[in-house]
Amino acid sequence: MKKKIAVLPGDGIGTEVTKGAVDILKAAAERFGHEFEFEYGQIGGCAIDACGSPLPDETLALCKRSDAVLLGAVGGPKWDSNPPEMRPEKGLLAIRKHLNLFANLRPISFYASLSEASPLRTEIIEGADFLIVRELTGGLYFGKPSGRTVIDGEEAVVDTLQYHKYEMKRIIELAFQLAQKRKRKVTSVDKANVLESSRMWRETAEEVAAEYKDVTLEHMLVDNAAMQLIRNPKQFDVVVTENMFGDILSDEASVLTGSLGMLPSASISAGGPSLYEPIHGSAPDIAGQNKANPIASILSAASLLRNSFGLNEEAEAVELAVEKVLEEGFRTADLASGSKAVTTEEMVEEIKTALLGQEAISQIMGAYS
Ligand code: IPM
Ligand code: MN
Repeated sequence: MKKKIAVLPGDGIGTEVTKGAVDILKAAAERFGHEFEFEYGQIGGCAIDACGSPLPDETLALCKRSDAVLLGAVGGPKWDSNPPEMRPEKGLLAIRKHLNLFANLRPISFYASLSEASPLRTEIIEGADFLIVRELTGGLYFGKPSGRTVIDGEEAVVDTLQYHKYEMKRIIELAFQLAQKRKRKVTSVDKANVLESSRMWRETAEEVAAEYKDVTLEHMLVDNAAMQLIRNPKQFDVVVTENMFGDILSDEASVLTGSLGMLPSASISAGGPSLYEPIHGSAPDIAGQNKANPIASILSAASLLRNSFGLNEEAEAVELAVEKVLEEGFRTADLASGSKAVTTEEMVEEIKTALLGQEAISQIMGAYS
C-alpha cells in the first residue's frame, strides 16, 4: 500500500515523540511491505516563529493533500503571553476546524504490567477498557461571541456555548456505531440539570438511541461522571460528550492507566484526512531531554494505520510490540516511579525491535507449520 502522511511535530516533546512514532511507522512499512511517504509541516509555536501564524496556509494545504496527519503537541511558555490569535493552541483549534475533525476518540485501556503506576487500586482499575468520544469542533471552544466586553458599564467577559443539532447527532451516532463493535453501551455525559445545550444533547441522544436498539443508552451528569470514573471505571464502554466536558474527563481518565504519556487519540474527519495525536501536551519542563514517553504517539500511529488505512494487522502488531516492551519492564521516567528509566530513544528502539522481532518469530513458526 502506498500512502502519504503529513507529519506536524509541533513544539516541546512533540518533536521527540513524533520522531519515535515515524520510526515505528517506517518499521511497520518495512515489515509489511508498504510505502509511506512522510512530509513535514509546522504548527503551533514553531510555526508562529517561522511563519508568523500558528497554522500556516502551507501546513493546511499539506494536510489536505495527505492521506492522514500525525501531530505531536503545541505550546510552551515562550508564547504564553501572546495575543489570543497568536497562541500555539490556536493552530490546533484551527486545524480541527479546517479539517472538519468532529470526533476525537480517546481509548482508555488498562495494561496489567502498569497496574503499579495507577493511583487506583488494581481491583478497581483491572479490566477497565472504555472509549471517550469527544466532540471536537463545537461548543465553548468555537462559539461566538467570545471576548472581553463591558456589560452594564462593568468590565465583563463572554464565551459562547453553541451547537447545531446536526453536530450533536453525528457525534452521538458515531458513538453508537463504535459501541456496536464493543460492549454495546453508550454513556452520554451532559449537564442537563443546568444547561439548555445539554438538554438538547440528551434529547438528541434519545433520538439516536431509538435507531440503535442493540445498544443501551444511559445519561450521566458530568459532575457525577467525574466521580464515577474514579469510583468504578469498569462500568463504562463508550462515553460520548461535548467538547469541553470531553477535554476535562479524558485528562482525568488518562491517570487511570498510569500516565498521560500512554494515551493516543484519533480525530476523525467528516470527509477529509483524519488526524492522530497523543492526548498529552508539549511538556516544556522536560522538552529536549530525551525523557518523554513516546508510547502515546506510537499508539496514535497505530490508530492511524487502523482507522485511516484499514491496516488492522499492522496496527495490532504495533500495539503488541508496545505491550511486550512494557511487560519486559522498560519504563520511561513518567512510569518508572524512581527506578531506572529508559530514554525516549531507547524506548522507541525497544518497540521497533519487538515489532521487527515478531516477524522473525512468525517466520520460524511458519517454517514448522
Ligand atoms: C487537548 C488539549 C487542547 C484542547 C488544547 C491544547 C487546546 O488540551 O487536545 O485535549 O483543549 O483541546
Ligand atoms: Mn486536553
